[in-house]
Amino acid sequence: MKVVEEEQRIRVMEGPWDAVSVIREIVESGQQEDPFYVFDLGEVVARYHKWKATMPRVEPFYAVKCNDDKLLLTTLAALGTGFDCASRAEIETVQQLGVRPERIIFANPAKMASHMRHAAAAGVRTVTFDSETELMKLKQYMPEAKLVIRIRCDAAEAQCPLGIKFGCDPVADAPRLLKLAAVLQLEVVGVSFHVGSGARETAVYARAIHFARALFDMGACVGHVGMRLVDLGGGFPGNHDTSIDEVAEVINEALELHFPERSVQVIAEPGRYFAAAAYTLAAVVHSKREVVSKLEDSDVAETSTMYYINDGVYGSFNCVLYDHQHVVAEPLREHDDEPLLPCSIWGPSCDSLDCVITDTRMPPLAVGEWLVFRDMGAYTLPVASPFNGFPVPRVRAVIDHGLWGIVKELWPLTEGHFMIGGRMTGPQREASPSPPPVLLEPHIPNGQQNHRALFVECALK
Ligand SMILES: Cc1ncc(COP(=O)(O)O)c(C=O)c1O
Repeated sequence: MKVVEEEQRIRVMEGPWDAVSVIREIVESGQQEDPFYVFDLGEVVARYHKWKATMPRVEPFYAVKCNDDKLLLTTLAALGTGFDCASRAEIETVQQLGVRPERIIFANPAKMASHMRHAAAAGVRTVTFDSETELMKLKQYMPEAKLVIRIRCDAAEAQCPLGIKFGCDPVADAPRLLKLAAVLQLEVVGVSFHVGSGARETAVYARAIHFARALFDMGACVGHVGMRLVDLGGGFPGNHDTSIDEVAEVINEALELHFPERSVQVIAEPGRYFAAAAYTLAAVVHSKREVVSKLEDSDVAETSTMYYINDGVYGSFNCVLYDHQHVVAEPLREHDDEPLLPCSIWGPSCDSLDCVITDTRMPPLAVGEWLVFRDMGAYTLPVASPFNGFPVPRVRAVIDHGLWGIVKELWPLTEGHFMIGGRMTGPQREASPSPPPVLLEPHIPNGQQNHRALFVECALK
């Protein structure tokens, strides 16, 4: 049994619980002062199941950049997803988990030579490109690569548009690049796009899939007769109050219309979808200050409270600046019938840019009171820094006992990843050697499919 580091262990939760009750337990132990995350593996498993149920043709290749927490990657690898890596380090990280190179797409259209050499040596073959320069580099460093042309097709509105940086024009540029690739004797196998992260338009996927079809046909005319991959990129919603039902309907319909042939493999690179809702952050109010300000265009003065918490925009809340997230703070303690008063929430650093929420209303909070922030798993942790001496929050991973019985042996998860009982803050013993009752016997068809993924799907139905 592989034994993993103490802080990487996943606590098996018995009885009724949710992320907030776990936070409460940790806080009430009196030993926690720093901010921390609760990571619920069950949320990732449920989302994987939902994805497979709504878009059975589309294989998720998780975008590592969104959150590279090892336990999240290990969980996704156990479920059988592939991975979208943008760099040498990301490739190394997922390969260290035992992920095979065929399950990796090197989806950075502007790659560094050293990273390309590493990818080639590591056996990673599928790569994206969107320019002549990249084709020349691929010829030099990865001549055996399976190329995927990245086109630009932007959602009408997105939290983080990506088309301004990557993606060639599907009409003006792509045909020329396909011809050049053929002249260079490079093999183009597919088309990819990214409509923008946090896309707020679903019809854009239909437009992009239509472009992909046209480029498959054009590619065949210039010699790329083996085109067989459509990569839908990311852009899928991830917060608790969102759903992929509508976007899945658009995608399924467009695939049926333009790519009815099952020989075409369809993948996507969801990041936010898997990571956002699985992580809940807890941070504590360590200082506060009353300020009086005049209301705009009036002589009326308003008192407002500035709350200072121990995580800020240089830590988890970098997402406010870089990912344009609007975070919502909820007091951990109940405040029955107390008035909601004007306030702002600030991070711990000595920088005035370090503002988490500029203007909101909360019940009066005491110093030492904890705040909970949901949906904090996407584009938070990998960017956070300990600037000014404030530590990046640690992750406390949890899983429901029933689900543990199902996933604990889905490699690369092992029994050594889990622990049962004990307090969340202190040392915890390893999972008991005698396994709890398994909910369902795995049904593994002879040599077909991905057994592990199927196992989880069956068990969750
Ligand atoms: C190439 C690529 N694929 C996938 C993603 C993940 O996107 P999302 O988190 O919107 O699913 C990104 C995000 O920037 C990206 O650059």
